[in-house]
Amino acid sequence: MQPTTRFDPRVSGLSQQVKTLASPQEVYFEKARDIRAEYIDGALHLYRHEDILAVNKHPDVLGNGGGGGSFGHDGKLIPLEIDGPDHKKWRRLLDPMFSPKRVQVLEDQIRRLAVDLIENSRAAGGAEFNSEFCTPLPCQTFLGLVGAPIEDLDFFLEFKEGVIHPKGDTTEEIEANMAVAGGKLLDYFGRFLQDKRKHLDDDDVIAELLRSEVGGEPLAEFDLINILFLLMFAGLDTVTASLSCLIAWLGRNPEHRQILVDTPELLTPAIEELLRYESPVPLGMRYPVRDIDLGDGLVIGQGEQISAFWAAANVDPTYHEDPMRVDFRRPRVGHMTFASGVHRCLGSHLARLELRIAMEEVLARIPRYEVDVGALAYDNVAVRTVTNLPVVIA
Ligand code: HEM
Repeated sequence: MQPTTRFDPRVSGLSQQVKTLASPQEVYFEKARDIRAEYIDGALHLYRHEDILAVNKHPDVLGNGGGGGSFGHDGKLIPLEIDGPDHKKWRRLLDPMFSPKRVQVLEDQIRRLAVDLIENSRAAGGAEFNSEFCTPLPCQTFLGLVGAPIEDLDFFLEFKEGVIHPKGDTTEEIEANMAVAGGKLLDYFGRFLQDKRKHLDDDDVIAELLRSEVGGEPLAEFDLINILFLLMFAGLDTVTASLSCLIAWLGRNPEHRQILVDTPELLTPAIEELLRYESPVPLGMRYPVRDIDLGDGLVIGQGEQISAFWAAANVDPTYHEDPMRVDFRRPRVGHMTFASGVHRCLGSHLARLELRIAMEEVLARIPRYEVDVGALAYDNVAVRTVTNLPVVIA
């Protein structure tokens, strides 16, 4: 096995190969079909569902934090870059704040916002949906839930762009640009938390964190920052991206959209199927602390950098039947879009709620929307997003 040097997967050969493709699934499918594991730029790329599942479950494998700090922040992001018992401790604190029951109370508020945004676009005869719908709906919802000022949305959007889609062609350039974006957020939260401590009774995640204790002690300021830094980009980018992918896909496949208009009870499985096919977060990093044996001769060495391609596992023909076909009645979707194992996404219940309500309102109010296919622009690096999504509403 080859030694690994640290590199940012955003500049890797495969990320660059699929960078602007409308259908990167074709590339991922061929990888998963033909190759079990390969080195690209020193990182071991895994493409198959069973291997990635085994890695995610393995007690000797660390998550993203195994490679040291990332996303332009020196501290370890909580819980993404923490492992072992400490990771369990943080998830025990955070899981209830994003549980199905906790997010369900947002349903009416999300629906009202979705209706307003759709009706504004309808009145205008259409809109660029990434900026007019897919961004404001989840981002305003998320800021309200965590208790960050909605009027500062543009600041937070600039921050998440800076750490998820940083400019730069090399790992060094990317890290320098992320550090600038991250530094601004640290300054912001330094000031913001001082003020927020005067409003501990607020009904939001930040106030709850400020009231919480871990191991009998209130949270230290740096732990709070390490949580909020992650939440602000994990919560702001991913649902926007997923929504843009779903609306574009259904716009390009009107016969499938009509199935959902005629059979609304298929919407929930259809969202799961489209999350599988579109895989908005294409990959994650993993780091074995000992040699691990995945069977049939595949041994991954201690300290190697693994790029686990959720997007390839989701179209892996050795696991999924006919994976390139989108089938809203697929008997077993079993996708890895939210990863798996201990680092499984904290925000999946919120994401699913937002996607369901958004799509219910889109299908009910503008069921025959058209997308300008020639003008669609995709960015598949780090988080797959339709960055230009012109929608025409007749
Ligand atoms: C459809 C939308 C979303 C997708 C596709 C998604 C995907 C993922 C994936 C693949 C991971 C695993 C990362 C890794 O281990 O490398 C993850 C983790 C995480 N996600 Fe999400 N996510 C979404 C929405 C959200 C939202 C709305 C939040 C806000 C609370 C969130 C918060 C997190 C956090 C905190 C983690 C780290 C969990 C841990 O390490 O224990 N995500 N997400």
